[in-house]
Parts: sequence; structure tokens; C-alpha cells
Amino acid sequence: MKPIVAVTRKIPEAGLSLLRAKFDLRLNKKDGVLAAPELKKIVKGASGVVALLTDKIDDSVLSAAGRELKVIANFAVGYDNVDLVAAKKRKIIVTNTPGVLTEAVAEHAIALLMAVARRIVESDKFTRAGRYEGWEPELLLGPELSGKTLGIIGLGRIGSRVAELAALGLRMKIIYYDNGNRNRELEGKFGAEAVSMRKVITASDAISIHVPLLPTTRHLFGKAELASMKPSAILINTSRGPVVDEKALAAALKNKVIWGAGLDVFEFEPKISPELLKLDNVVMTPHTASATIEARNAMATLAAKNIIAVLEGRAALTPVRP
Ligand code: DGY
Repeated sequence: MKPIVAVTRKIPEAGLSLLRAKFDLRLNKKDGVLAAPELKKIVKGASGVVALLTDKIDDSVLSAAGRELKVIANFAVGYDNVDLVAAKKRKIIVTNTPGVLTEAVAEHAIALLMAVARRIVESDKFTRAGRYEGWEPELLLGPELSGKTLGIIGLGRIGSRVAELAALGLRMKIIYYDNGNRNRELEGKFGAEAVSMRKVITASDAISIHVPLLPTTRHLFGKAELASMKPSAILINTSRGPVVDEKALAAALKNKVIWGAGLDVFEFEPKISPELLKLDNVVMTPHTASATIEARNAMATLAAKNIIAVLEGRAALTPVRP
């Protein structure tokens, strides 16, 4: 009998076919997030689980899976949905999908930045509504990005790539805060400057957040931080929603405390604050920053390879540690 691998929601065939060739695949048949009882049912008796960031993999789910479970392959680079301590206690390996979605997420962060600055969504709505009556000198003005300062919070793979795209593509000046760490390569490459968190907040014309969700990063941006940003500044969040206090952000955008925001993630996903939905100075996407065909295929392949490696007794390719 082949080991069972559960996949909590359909992922690209590139990964499924690798798993199907070796294991007995148990797929979530409905196209939706599994509620806790369904999640417990699908993982029961599985040796490996491909989980999504929308699945809360806590000790009760691990316990429901049973003693066979050896590996959870999270189909995401973030893994705040998995209780790593509980997994470690049960000797279950947890893996994620770093690297393969860097380009996709970085491109999306830049797309949001440009869309907010140049009011692309607002302009599209304006045009579709038949309101364009001819060229106007002051129609839908927004800030130019070239020469402005982009502050990056978190200079890991994605933050570094955003910095590079902004510096080399948009000629932006880069300042960054990475928990006190320095990235001398990026500093040498295009003069990125390591500064304090406070300086990133106060001196940036745009800020892009690239930190994992941890107790220390929850509400990293709240009312006080938003109030300390330049009134002309733009905030981009493609990391995790709870890193920004969404209520405070909606108020700051409404009261023009900052110029605008680009959000791919939300504090209470999939719910979005109704206040945000009414505002023109925020561009929102439904957690699709990694949604390129290339990245999602590569994420599926990497998740599958992690499962195969562990279940065949080899080391996981991209394990995460508590
Ligand atoms: C991740 O991989 O953590 C992203 O949020 C998915 O888009």
C-alpha cells in the first residue's frame, strides 16, 4: 500500500503529478478552504500533507492526522499558519516554498506601488465611467517615483528584489531596516542604506513591508507609525495583513495622513474593512502577489519534492525551523 498524501486544496498539476506517481493522493474535492473538522478528516492517516496558508495547522490537526504524519509542505513562503513547536514535538518536518515566488511577489509590490502613485485603478474607473472629456493639465495627478526614497522593512529575498527593481528600474533611493542586519551586497550594488526603523518611517516617500508575521511584527504599523510617515507617502504591504493595523490604516487613508496604500494582504482575510472599500487612495488585490503561472507551478513542484524527499527518507529541500 502506498503512503497517503493529503492536499488540502487543488494546487497546480505540476506538483500533483509528481505526488500522484508515488503516493495515494487524497484531494480536497470542493474548491474552497476546509473548515477545521474537514481538515482533520482529510489529514487522518496521511504521511504527508500539502497545506495552504489558509489552513490553520495546529496541534489538534496534527493529532487528528495520527502517527503516520511525517511532513507538512506549506504551499507558501510564509508559515505563520503552522504551529511549528507542536510539529517539532511530534517530529513532523515542516517545509515552505522560498525562492520560487520571489520574482512574482517583488513584481507585484512594484505594480502596487506604481498603481497607487499613478492612480491607475482610480483612472480606470474614471475612464470607464465616461468621465473623460478631454486632456486636462491637472487631471489625476500623482507623484513621480524616480528620485524618491523607497524604504524597505525586511530585506530578505523578496525585500531585496523589490529594492533592486526600484533602484535599477525606477531610479529610487533605497533605505532599509532589517532588524539591525546589514546587506553589504545591496549597499554596494546600488547604495542601499541601512537605517533605523524610525528613519524608514519618517524619511520614505514609499514603504514596502517584507517581514514574516510574528508576535513582534503584529501591528508593526499602527496609528503612531502611520502618523509619522510623510503625508505624501505610500505604504505597500504584500507580507501578512496583521503586520498593519487595518483600522488605523483606513483612518489614515481617509484623513489623508498618508497619500495612499497598496495592499495584497488584509488583517482579517478574507474579510476587508468596509472603510477601505470606500477609498480611492488604496489599491487592493486578493492575496495574489505570488500568483504568476511560473511561481505557482514552481511552488507546487517544490512542495511535492519536499514531501517526496521526506517520505523517501531524505532531507527536506526547504525545511523551516521554529
Ligand atoms: C506566501 O507564499 O506566503 C504568500 O503570501 C503567498 O502568496
